[in-house]
Amino acid sequence: MCGIVGYIGEKTAQDVLITELKRLEYRGYDSAGIMTLSPQHSATLLRAKGKVSALVDIASAHTTTDTMGIGHTRWATHGAPSERNAHPHQVGNIYVVHNGIIENYQELKTMLAYHDYTFKSDTDTEVLTALIDYMYRETHDTLAAVTAALKMVVGAYGIAVVHTDNPDEIIVARKGSPLIVGLGEGETYIASDASALVGYTKQVVYLHDGEIGRCTKSGLTLQTIQSKAVDVHVETLEMDLQAIQKQGFDHFLLKEIFDQPRTVQATLAGRVIPDQGYARLGGINLSDDQLRAIKHVMIVGCGTAYFAGMQASYFIEQMTDDVTVSVEIASELRYRSYNIPDHTVALIVSQSGETADTLACLMELKRRGVLCLGVVNAVGSTIAREVDSGVYVHVGAEISVASTKAFTSQVAAMTIFGVMLAAAKGSSPQLISEFVNELGALPGEIKNVLDTQNQHIQSVAQQYASYDHALYIGRDTLYPAAMEGALKLKEVSYIHAEAYAAGELKHGPIALIDDRFFEICYLQDNWLYEKSQSNLIEMNARGAHAIVITDTIKDIPAETMVRITTKFEHLTPLLFNVVSQLFAYYMALARGNDVDQPRNLAKSVTVE
Ligand code: F6R
Repeated sequence: MCGIVGYIGEKTAQDVLITELKRLEYRGYDSAGIMTLSPQHSATLLRAKGKVSALVDIASAHTTTDTMGIGHTRWATHGAPSERNAHPHQVGNIYVVHNGIIENYQELKTMLAYHDYTFKSDTDTEVLTALIDYMYRETHDTLAAVTAALKMVVGAYGIAVVHTDNPDEIIVARKGSPLIVGLGEGETYIASDASALVGYTKQVVYLHDGEIGRCTKSGLTLQTIQSKAVDVHVETLEMDLQAIQKQGFDHFLLKEIFDQPRTVQATLAGRVIPDQGYARLGGINLSDDQLRAIKHVMIVGCGTAYFAGMQASYFIEQMTDDVTVSVEIASELRYRSYNIPDHTVALIVSQSGETADTLACLMELKRRGVLCLGVVNAVGSTIAREVDSGVYVHVGAEISVASTKAFTSQVAAMTIFGVMLAAAKGSSPQLISEFVNELGALPGEIKNVLDTQNQHIQSVAQQYASYDHALYIGRDTLYPAAMEGALKLKEVSYIHAEAYAAGELKHGPIALIDDRFFEICYLQDNWLYEKSQSNLIEMNARGAHAIVITDTIKDIPAETMVRITTKFEHLTPLLFNVVSQLFAYYMALARGNDVDQPRNLAKSVTVE
C-alpha cells in the first residue's frame, strides 16, 4: 500500500528519491518522507503530511548533496496520517522505511519499553526501528541487527534500513511485501515497485520472501534470514518511461481507459488468431485431457479483479456444459470453511500480484492441492511467482488507482481460458468461434466506443454530477458490468453507487428511487431485452432519472441515452463497461476530485 525507495551512488540522493517517490505516489499518498546521509555521518530527515509535493516544498528549503538515502510514501495503517507517523522512522542511529504490518508490535513494544525505549509515533514501524536499534547494541552490524530483529517479528514487511555509522550501505529485507533492487554503474536503487526504477536501470533483482540484502554502490549481496548466502538473480526490466507517463492525457485514468485497444491487443497477441479459430493461453500448460477433466473453476480476487472474475464466469458457463464456476471474494474465502469439489482448478486474479487476501487464498488452495493458475499483470509479483502456472495480461503499468485496463484484459484472458475448456470438452464449435471472433475484434470495438462516445459521455456526466446516489442495473452478463461500473463511480466520484441484478429491483431497491438518485441501466438487444426493458419502465413509472447504455436502435423511454453500435453478441458488457469507465472519469472531473489518487485509497492492497 505504501511505497519504499532508496538510493546509494554518486547522484544527489534527494533528487533521485523524490523522483522515485513521485512515481510510487499512487501506492499511498497520505504522507511522505526521505532521509539522506552524508559521508560524515550526518543525517537529514524530512517528512511531511500529505502528498509528495508537500515533501518537495520542505526539501527545497533543506537541500543536501548527500548521495545515499531512503524514502517512503505512506497509506496509513497504524496511526493517522501525520508528520509524526510518516516514515522514515528514527530510533537512535537507525532509520527505517517499511511497507506491511508488524502483527506482534504491541508485544515487542512492551518488551522494548522495559529496556527504556520510548515512542514518538503510533506506528508499528517505529517499534521495528527500535528493535533493530536494540539488536545493534549486541551485534554492532546493521545486517546482523536487522536479521536478529526480523527473527522476532510476526507479520509482513518490505524494509530499507540505514545506520548513520554506515553511509556505504542500505540493508533491505522482504517478507510478503515486494522489494526490488536496481543495479546501475556504481549505483544501486531500491524500490517496492518497478515503476520507480524506470529510466534509471533495467537490471533488477526481485527479492524473495525471507531474503535480506546489503546494498552498496557496487551492488547487492543476499542472504536468508538464517544467514545462508543466496545467489543474486538479475532480471531485465521490460517497462519503459512512456508506460509511466500521461502521454498528453490530463490524467492516468483517462490515458489508461484510452489505452485499452492497445492493451487488449497485448493480452491477445499470440493467444487469439480468429482466422484459424485459435485461442490458447500458452502459459497454462494443460493438455486437452487435463482440461477435459476439469469440473469446477473457482475464480478468486478482490475488487475489480473479483468483478472481472464474475464477468468471465458468465462467459465460461455459456461456453461449457459440464463445468460449474464459482467466484470468490478473497477476503471472505480465506476465513470460510469451504468444500472444494473434485477436479477444481482455481484462477487467481490480480493486477498487482501482491494483494494480501488473494495471496493468502492462493497459498491455502495450494496447500489443499488445488491447481492454481494466475491471471496477473505485474511481472515478477508474488502471486505470479507462487501460482502453479498462469498468464500475464500484459497491460503494462496501471498507475491510476482505479483499475480499468486491467479489468478488460483480465476478462479477456479468462474468456480465452473458457474457450480452451470449451474446445477440449467438445462444446458447440459455432459458439466457440463466436467467442474467438469477438475476442479478436475486441480492440477495434473498444476503439469505436472511445471514438464515438467520449464527448457525449462527458456532457452526460456534467448533467448528472450533482446527484448524491446512483443505482446500476444489469441482467445476466450485464450484472457484473453493473457491479464494476458502480465500483468505478464510487471510487473516483465519491457518489454513493450500488449495483443490482435487474430482476432484484422489485425485491427492495426500487424503494430507493427518488430525485436524489440517477439510474444507469445496461440494456443489450438480446434475448433478455424485453425483460430488462420492463425493469426500466417500472423505474420510469417511479420517477427514475435513467441513463440507458445500450446497443439497440429501438426506441427506449429514458431520460438519457448512450447508444453504441457493435456487432457483438457476447462481449458487449466489456463495451458497456468502457462507457461506465468514461462516465466515472468525467463525473469525478466535474466534481473536482483527484481523479488518479482518490481519497482514502491506494493501489495494491498488501495488508489484510
Ligand atoms: C478498483 C481497484 C481495486 C483492485 C483490488 C484488487 O478500481 O483497483 O478494487 O481491483 O484492490 O487489486 P489487485 O488486482 O491488484 O489484486
